[in-house]
Amino acid sequence: MSAHNPRQSRVLSGMRPTGRLHLGHYHGVLKNWLRLQQEYECYFFVADWHALTTAYEEREIISRNVWDMVIDWLACGVNPKLATVFIQSRVPEHAELHLLLSMVAPLGWLERVPTYKDQQENLREKDLLTYGFLGYPVLQAADILMYKATAIPVGEDQVSHVELTRELARRFNYMFGREPGFEEKAEEAVRKMGKKNAKLYANLRKRYQEQGDHEALEVARALLEGQQNITLGDRERLFGYLDGSGRNILPEPEALLTPASRMPGLDGRKMSKSYGNTIGLREDPDAVERKVRTMPTDPARVRRSDPGEPTKCPVWDLHKVYSDERTQDWVMDGCRSAGIGCIDCKKPVIDAVQAELAPIRQRGEEFEADPDAVRRIVAEGCESARSDARETMDEVRTAVGLEYR
Ligand code: TRP
Ligand code: SF4
Repeated sequence: MSAHNPRQSRVLSGMRPTGRLHLGHYHGVLKNWLRLQQEYECYFFVADWHALTTAYEEREIISRNVWDMVIDWLACGVNPKLATVFIQSRVPEHAELHLLLSMVAPLGWLERVPTYKDQQENLREKDLLTYGFLGYPVLQAADILMYKATAIPVGEDQVSHVELTRELARRFNYMFGREPGFEEKAEEAVRKMGKKNAKLYANLRKRYQEQGDHEALEVARALLEGQQNITLGDRERLFGYLDGSGRNILPEPEALLTPASRMPGLDGRKMSKSYGNTIGLREDPDAVERKVRTMPTDPARVRRSDPGEPTKCPVWDLHKVYSDERTQDWVMDGCRSAGIGCIDCKKPVIDAVQAELAPIRQRGEEFEADPDAVRRIVAEGCESARSDARETMDEVRTAVGLEYR
């Protein structure tokens, strides 16, 4: 299925509740979500179980972080009318699907996920030799497959998780998608498309199966995507019937690669909580101003009369994010000729950050003052996610042979 047909595409993304969000999250993730929610059906969720895979000793922190993070999302403009916002652990079906997928997840696949070894090395102070940590990409696969999401916005570092999800889906479909009477059910579904489309489908399928015509396969898939009158189950049968793989119970998602944003922090390194170089999304204006004012600059500029070099200065990195060409030229010339001081130079950055944060802070305060509204939004999102999850799990249980009558 194409990830590029907005009508048929479902986007899903999760974030660990690791604390209050900062400008790095805003530029790296949230601005992208805001764009996606306009174009696609979106699911955004708090990955609280994922947080437990590495932060299982920080119970109180997680619960506070969950609400802070949801408020940050809403303050930035995540719109519950456009996107389903929910908390992973409130949809316990994720745990069930994780368990069932884990039955068919080869250990070798999990040990080969690059983040497995990387994170163990990066987080040496924690004991990550746990079952939960090894299995967390399976949990992530369950998150994605539960909603039959087709497009997963991820950075480079998470592409391997989407790849593993695809492999698990394929394996699952192959093992359990061969329901009894598949052919008959598929043929019945073909007829439901109406005479003309049924004939077209049959022709395209024949062309693909007999002559290996890939174009025919693509056309047939597009035909299926455009069908309004058939159920989701039938649609998946017909997808599987095309290439002979059996029913596509859990469709394979695609990674929607998010351009890496390297939002610079206050010290020139990437903005990150662990470096202590962040500007929080709801930090008060005085603190924001103070933080930028005290930022280090080009160390060669000891005195106001010493010329400097912007490319050696973290403030310049922020000008690259926030300033137009004219201002950037002014910085370049003024710094190199000692025509401006560092305080002058920081002023436009401070103004730009304040302008960006003002509406976020304002909306954040409104949500903070009305926790019931926030709880309601999340409760509704969880309810709606759960109803999708129940549907998927009914199909999954039947496929696996757990629907006892
Ligand atoms: N693993 C992601 C992270 O650590 C969070 C996450 C969990 C996620 N499930 C997901 C992201 C599903 C995308 C899709 O940040
Ligand atoms: Fe950095 Fe601007 Fe000072 Fe130059 S003038 S050192 S770019 S803060």
